[in-house]
Amino acid sequence: SASAAAGAEVPSPEKRVIMNWLLVGAAALPVTGLAVPYIAFFVPPSTGGGGDSIAAKDAAGNDVVATKWLKEHRAGDRSLTQGLKSDATYLIVNDKSEIEKFGLNAVCTHLGCVVPWNTNENKFKCPCHGSQYNAQGKVVRGPAPLSLALAHADIKDDVVFFSPWKETDFRTGQNPWWT
Ligand code: FES
Repeated sequence: SASAAAGAEVPSPEKRVIMNWLLVGAAALPVTGLAVPYIAFFVPPSTGGGGDSIAAKDAAGNDVVATKWLKEHRAGDRSLTQGLKSDATYLIVNDKSEIEKFGLNAVCTHLGCVVPWNTNENKFKCPCHGSQYNAQGKVVRGPAPLSLALAHADIKDDVVFFSPWKETDFRTGQNPWWT
């Protein structure tokens, strides 16, 4: 029927997230050499580090190597990597120029746009409906109802691994809404 055909045009939520992410990533990268890295970006993630942890992937689809990352990203940097469930996830370089122990899921808790980091304003600002999150991903302006999801970020053999954050959300003192 006509309505079924129309329904087939609507991308799945997962697909929308990936498309949004591509838009953000494309804006953050040099113009040259875009195609090949993004094809490689979505190769199946390799697991490692045990349990339910997964190696963070850079824009070329390679495992994030901590020492190399820290040469290329300064204190305060928040850059996108591929994290748990292939979600766009911010890796944070803290004020001591170390990789922060938590990453932030970049998917807006309102309707799922990928939220860009705004260095000048020191917060994440969603381009879709104006939600804002502070530097730790805590929601500070709606319509987003919730803070950005946390993930543990740990270094093993110089590779950065994300794993699910099941403990109290230190930003709110509440149980994580994302588990
Ligand atoms: Fe981010 Fe609506 S999706 S504010």
